Amino acid sequence: MKSIRFVALGGALALGLTACSGGGAGSGGGGEDGGGDPADMTIGVAMPTETSERWIADGNAVKSQLEEAGYSVDLQYAADDIPTQSQQIDQMITKGVDLLIVASIDGTALANQLQAAADAGIPVIAYDRLINGTENVDFYVTFDNYNVGVQQATSLLVGLGILNEDGSEAGATGPFNVELFAGSLDDNNAHFFYQGAMDTLQPYIDNGTIVVKSGQTGIEQVATLRWLQETAQKRMEDLLTSTYSDGTKVNGVLSPYDGISRGIITALQNAGYGDSIEAGLPIVTGQDAEIASVKLINDGVQYSTIFKDTRKLAEQAVTSAEAFLEGDEPEANNTEDYDNGVKVVPSFLLESDIVYADNIQSLLIDSGYWTEEQVASGQA
Ligand code: GAL
Repeated sequence: MKSIRFVALGGALALGLTACSGGGAGSGGGGEDGGGDPADMTIGVAMPTETSERWIADGNAVKSQLEEAGYSVDLQYAADDIPTQSQQIDQMITKGVDLLIVASIDGTALANQLQAAADAGIPVIAYDRLINGTENVDFYVTFDNYNVGVQQATSLLVGLGILNEDGSEAGATGPFNVELFAGSLDDNNAHFFYQGAMDTLQPYIDNGTIVVKSGQTGIEQVATLRWLQETAQKRMEDLLTSTYSDGTKVNGVLSPYDGISRGIITALQNAGYGDSIEAGLPIVTGQDAEIASVKLINDGVQYSTIFKDTRKLAEQAVTSAEAFLEGDEPEANNTEDYDNGVKVVPSFLLESDIVYADNIQSLLIDSGYWTEEQVASGQA
């Protein structure tokens, strides 16, 4: 199957050489072994949105690393609008890019574009988010998304005093009132995060240590369309005025992403929970180590986040792209977990880390991800 694709790829690249000899994208590739001169190749990079700084960091890292390797890059952001992203990818294909790297908005909405890419012999790498419902996704670079969810729930349990950071039991038995949030249902990752988190929390729900007072535990009930901060803030406000109007307090909130965490925290602060955990805010988790949230963790407002080093993800995307463009196959370390409904997509998964106030220095500052000044100011 793979080798058939590669014959097609070599052919299309050779064709591109003739068809696009007027210059511009798509004129590279086509060596005997499928390899070509990076200077003649353009990579299309489709990113979802610039409203979240993580995707800006991803886009910049992928672009600069590809450019360092000698490729030209067409980087586009789609303002979280599905038709815009489809159109951007269509245009990249029409321009004749040599390879596509795509972080999708809706993982099921790109089947037509990817069919066109396949027809043109353009390999497609799904970036961070899996693209579903198509055979035309060749590789997937991401983090161990299930484990991200496990880490989010673990940090919640640590914050509540149920577990120690090393995973051993810390002794607290609650009962603790916890509310749950998930990401956007059209993002495959949201399901992995939530599954990992719920598998970790379930034993404590079952034995009564954790009580989900609203009763909202199904992913459809707790999802946040497009991962929007305002949407999460609104749902938290609604929970506070409905479930918690009797004066009982929320002790913890499972949040799958820092933007959502900040919306939740704003709702809680507005409802009089205080300005810090010490002053009465619940334990709120997160993801992405966005600078605004890292500052909040440093200040004792948000409890934790998950650090996914976007520089490493970009590096992996670039390594995988180079493999395709040199006529090889990228190296996968997981060929089981990411079934997109049509096939299991060969994947490379990276590891993530839990960030607490006490390891901001070692994880984020010492690694050069954020500077001390950025952490202090909360500005990138
Ligand atoms: C997910 C991604 C998370 C977070 C979220 C919201 O797909 O894996 O790291 O960024 O989107 O943007």
